[in-house]
Parts: sequence; structure tokens; C-alpha cells
Amino acid sequence: MAELRAVTFEAVDLDALAEAQGRIAVFVTPDGKLSPAARRLNRLTKGALARAVESRAFEKLDEGKALALGYPAGMAAEAVDVVKLNRRPDADLARQAGAGVAASGGRSALLLLAESVKRPEEIALGALLRGYEFDDRRTPAEDAEAPGKITVMCANPEEVETAAAARIAVAEGVIFTRNLVNEPANVLTTTEFAARIEGLRDLGVEVEILEETDLEKLGMGALLCVGQGSDSPSKVAIMRWKGGAKDAAPLALIGKGVVFDTGGISLKPAAGMEDMTMDMGGAGVVAGVMRAIAGRKAKANVTGLVGLVENMPSGNATRPGDVVKSLKGDTIEVINTDAEGRLVLADVLWHAQETEKPAAMIDLATLTGACIIALGHENAAVFSNDDGFAQDFLKAAGTEGEGAWRLPLGKAYDEQLKSRIADMKNVGGRPAGSITAAQFLKRFVKDDVPWIHLDIAGVASIDKDQPLAPKGASGWGVRAIDRLISDKFETEG
Ligand code: BES
Ligand code: MN
Ligand code: ZN
Repeated sequence: MAELRAVTFEAVDLDALAEAQGRIAVFVTPDGKLSPAARRLNRLTKGALARAVESRAFEKLDEGKALALGYPAGMAAEAVDVVKLNRRPDADLARQAGAGVAASGGRSALLLLAESVKRPEEIALGALLRGYEFDDRRTPAEDAEAPGKITVMCANPEEVETAAAARIAVAEGVIFTRNLVNEPANVLTTTEFAARIEGLRDLGVEVEILEETDLEKLGMGALLCVGQGSDSPSKVAIMRWKGGAKDAAPLALIGKGVVFDTGGISLKPAAGMEDMTMDMGGAGVVAGVMRAIAGRKAKANVTGLVGLVENMPSGNATRPGDVVKSLKGDTIEVINTDAEGRLVLADVLWHAQETEKPAAMIDLATLTGACIIALGHENAAVFSNDDGFAQDFLKAAGTEGEGAWRLPLGKAYDEQLKSRIADMKNVGGRPAGSITAAQFLKRFVKDDVPWIHLDIAGVASIDKDQPLAPKGASGWGVRAIDRLISDKFETEG
């Protein structure tokens, strides 16, 4: 599996710079102040660095961006990146600065000279996230070299290392998610997904897998009707991290894990159907958050619950017009078998409330194409029955630079879900498609449970490079939810 690059934090050693291999990044303030490391590089390059800093090009550069000096004379390095950055960048800018260096550096070793900037751990995080590459399904070239390591030279390496350890755990969570989301559906079957989740036991997460027979006994008719056309068995995986007070009700995270969405009998068109390998993105984020909080030993109780199914057409598949009974007991007329995510979530949401008695719930799902029409790939849609909880989440997402925008719920939209023969139908027509989907989910949320629904259809996997991620799976949401947990759910001390 694609792994994080190795990163170490060291004291500044100016005498090592001439011989350093790979790419060197040095941070220079917008007004051109040179740190001791920058002055040494300037001396080694016989003034080239100062000329770069005095250039129009540097003046025009946005903060966080770099001018590259290629194959500088007098040094072993292949390039020196002169990064424009003030001494106290906010976390987002620090991450982007680190990411920019990793993006231009490819697989080269990176030396980040961060002795005079704040937040070196965020610079490193940016480099780690942007330096990720999913190459597991490519035959390695004969002469392929492993990606070089990342070295951060900073003022107090021991202190920075402690701060960085928590951030590296979060990065591990993000790439756990990305690896799941990037995987094709013939590799990441429901069984393989469950097996990867079971791997979290090594970090102290309690894992329970409910098999199809268990789900039948419980009465998860909505979830089961989605997977019944597939040869892969439907499963629900439950992950419990108990880092908080013994009696504290957990935060529950619920994820849509449709390992492939053909649409079922309401078959999707061929063009672009291959993108539906990412339809387990919600479940991927839940697993990634569990990885992150276990890795940094968060002092919080969090339960992740994911519904793992495959939506396939077959002689045994659910038909449009079929009526199924949910775990809650309500009946649902399945008008369109392609509106399957809400059927999976309905039962997992209900199970979460029955078994975990959560203090709050967040569900994540690549739920609607309409969400992409509304918000594109810049923001996930946020729905909530609790203004304070929604605000807390939006603040956490803002700090992490993950786009999120709130859309409304409202009783009036419920009209669109009325069925002629059952308690509800699973689609509400074209108008407000993301909202009617959220409104459907809300029927499976008890009134007194603070709840957020995140529609991540537009952000889970993106077809162009992002500031902190190469094209493909983004891991959107792992950092925002991790931050929300540390802001609002962790006990002190
Ligand atoms: N998984 C899709 C939503 C989706 C579309 C995610 C594009 C990512 C990119 C979901 O299961 C779906 O098919 N939704 C339908 C709902 C409709 C039938 C009411 C949609 O959005 O078209
Ligand atoms: Mn679908
Ligand atoms: Zn789907």
C-alpha cells in the first residue's frame, strides 16, 4: 500500500548544505530577510539566492509559492526552492508552502530549512500530503527508486517532533482513506475493505464485523436490498476507539461504503461509470479518522460504523418499485435503485443510535450528483439539525482548509418523498436533489441527537491536482473531523 514518506526533524547544520542531495527549500520573508541558512546558501551559490530574492519574479510571487534555482553551482542539490513565506504563517499557508515544494520535487529527497519559521510541523504535513502517490496498481519501472526522505531542519527539533507526531498520525489517517478510495473495485471488495478495517486493531481500535446473516437477523432490509444483486457479501464494520472517559457517550461517525455503484437495475450510463469506485468514500473517511485518532491516542470516545455493499444488477437485484423494510421499521418504496446510498445510511444511522447511544453523529457519503451541480469540487455540502454543532464543524473545516458549505433542511422538502404505497420513497425528483436526500436521512435520526450529514460527492476524489493532494482521492474530511474531535470531544489533560 502507498505509504507516507519518512520524515525526520533535525537541528540546523549549515555545514551539511553544500553536500545535501535532492531538493532544498529555504523560506524567505516577503520583504526579503535572509535567515542564517539562506545566507549560507547565498554564499555557496555566489549570490544567486539574493539575486532571486531581489528579482521582480520574487516580488510578484504569492506567499507560499517558490522560485526554483536549478542545479546551483557550488552545491550537490538538484534545486534550491526559494519559498516566499512570512515568519508566522497560519497553518493553511504553512501546509501549502510545504506542499508546493513536494509537488515540484517529485520523488527527490527534500530538505526543508525551517529554522526561522513558525509551524514547521504544518510545513512537513503539507509536504507529506502532497508527496503522496498511489502507484500500487502500476508495474514498477526496472530502475524505480523509492521516494526520498524528508528532512526538516528547525530550531527545537525535539519540541517540533512532539507537535509533528500528532500531525503525522493525521497524515497517516488521510492516506489510509486515499488508499481505500483510489483502489479499484475488483481489489477493494466488501471483504477486502473489512479486512483493512480489521488491521486497525493493531492500533488499539476495537473492531466488530457484522456479516450478512447478522444484518438479516437485525432487520436491515434497506441496506441489504442494495447489496443483494452482488456476489460480494454486504457487511457493517464497527470501529470503537475508547480514549475518553469511561462513561462518556461517543461521537458516532457513519459512512456510505458502496464499493462500486453501477446504479443497479436503474443502471448508470457507461460514460464515467468507472468513477463509481469512489462511492465508498464516506466509509473511507470514517476509517481514516479512526486511524488518525488511534494513531495520536486521542482522549475521546468515537465509534465508526460503515455499511459495505456493492450495487450491482442481477437476477437477484432489487427492482424499481420494490418495497423494503428498514431497521427502524419504516417501509421504503425503491423508485430508483441508483439512490442506494441513503438506503445504506438509513439502517446504519439507526443501528448507531440503538447500540452506541451517541452524544452526536456525523455521516459522510458520496450521496448525490446534485451536490456537484450545487457546489462543484470546492466544497462538501453540510446539513445539520443543530446550529451549534454545524458551526463547530465549519470552524474545524476552515482551520484545516477543507471546503464546506451549509445547505438547508426543511419540512417542506418532505412532500417530495411521499410514496403512493409505502411510508416513503427513496427519491424526491430533480429539484433540490441533495436536500431531499438529506431530508430522507433525517427520518432515521432521533430528534434529540445532534447530527451532521456531509455530502462529499464532489470532494472525495478530484480529477485535477489539488494544493495538498495529487489527482484522485483527496481524503477530504479526515483532517476536519480530527480537528473537531480535538476541539470539542477530547477531555483535558
Ligand atoms: N453515488 C451516486 C452519487 C454520485 C454521483 C457520487 C457522482 C459521486 C459522483 C449516488 O448513489 C447516485 O447515484 N445518486 C443519484 C440519485 C438519484 C437517482 C436520485 C444521482 O445523484 O443521480
Ligand atoms: Mn447510486
Ligand atoms: Zn452511490
